[in-house]
Amino acid sequence: MQALAKTRQLGVVGNTSFSKRKRVSAEACLSLPQITPYYSSEHITLYKGEAAEILSSLGENSVDCIITSPPYYGQRDYGVEGQLGLEVHPQLYIDRLVAIFHQARRVLKPAGSVWVNIGDTYWSGKGKSQGVDTKQKYRRFDRPQDKTGERPWCAPKQLLLIPHRFAIAMQADGWIVRNDNVWHKPSPTPDPVKDRCALTHEYVFHFVQRRRYYFNATSVSVPSHGRKATKTPPSVWTIPTTPSGKMHRAVFPEQLMTLPIQATCPPNGVLLDPFCGSATALATALAASKDRCVIGIDISEEALKEAKALLPPDNTNMP
Ligand SMILES: C[S@@+](CC[C@H](N)C(=O)[O-])C[C@H]1O[C@@H](n2cnc3c(N)ncnc32)[C@H](O)[C@@H]1O
Repeated sequence: MQALAKTRQLGVVGNTSFSKRKRVSAEACLSLPQITPYYSSEHITLYKGEAAEILSSLGENSVDCIITSPPYYGQRDYGVEGQLGLEVHPQLYIDRLVAIFHQARRVLKPAGSVWVNIGDTYWSGKGKSQGVDTKQKYRRFDRPQDKTGERPWCAPKQLLLIPHRFAIAMQADGWIVRNDNVWHKPSPTPDPVKDRCALTHEYVFHFVQRRRYYFNATSVSVPSHGRKATKTPPSVWTIPTTPSGKMHRAVFPEQLMTLPIQATCPPNGVLLDPFCGSATALATALAASKDRCVIGIDISEEALKEAKALLPPDNTNMP
C-alpha cells in the first residue's frame, strides 16, 4: 500500500498534448471554452484530449446532463498516450476517474445528472498472456491485472468490485448516488469459466449534486398491469448487446442511453459525454430532439473521426 500511496501522490492526470489556442467561432449553447474543438457545428462540439484537461476548460454550469462509459479497468488498450484504464493499481484508476468527475461537477448545472456505465474486472496475476486470449482477441496487451498484485485486494481470481468502489469514492467526493442500475445482458460475450457464474451484467450509476434535480419521471414511466404508463421504471435493465457495425470496439447500445437522456436531459438541453468514443450517447440525444446540443470528448482521434462521420449533418462552425 506504501507504493500505492507514493504513486497516488504523483498525480492523477496523464500527459496529453493538445492545442490550447483560443477558439475562433462562437458555439451555440456553450460559454467561453478555451480549447479549439476537433469539430464544431450548431449543435455538436467534439474535443480531442484528456477528459479532465478538456473539462477544466469548459464553461461553469453549462451542461444539463453527463452520460458516459469510461474505459473499464484493464480491459482495452486504445493505443493512445494518457488513456484511462491501464493504471498499475485499481485504486489509481478509481482516483483518476473520480478526479475527472470532480472537474465535471463544475461544468454540470446544479440540477444536472451524471450517468456512468461501468463494468468490473477480475485480478488474474497469471503473468503476461501467451498467444491469443480465447475470450477476446484485442486483449493481447500488457494488462495490469496479469501482474503479481498486492493482497488481499489484488489476489488472483478476485473480482475487484470496481463499480461500487468507484461509486463510494464519488460519494466521498460529494456526489449523491441515486441508483446503481444493473444492465443485464441477455446474450453476453461467452465467459468460459468453470468455477464461478458468468458475468452477465454491468452497472449504470446515476449521480446528482443535490436533493432536487431535473428528472422527467413521466417520460420514463412504464405501464402497470398493461394499463397506462404510470409506474416508476425498475433499476434492472435487460438490454441486448447488439452488433454496432462500428469501428470502435467498446460501443454501448443506444437503448442503454434512452432512459438517462429522456429523464435528465431536457429536450433543449446540453448533453456531455467525456469519453464519447463513436458518439452513441450524443447521436441518441440528437435523434430524440434536434434542439439539444451535444459535447463529446475523447483522447483518440480514431474514435472522433468515426464519431464525426456518424453524427447527423449539422450547420458547421468550422472554417
Ligand atoms: C468505453 S469507450 C466509449 C464508447 C462509447 N460509449 C461508444 O458507444 O462508442 C471509452 C473511450 O474513452 C476514450 N478514452 C480513454 N482514456 C481517455 C481519457 N483519459 N480522456 C478522454 N477519453 C479517453 C477511449 O479512446 C474510448 O473511445
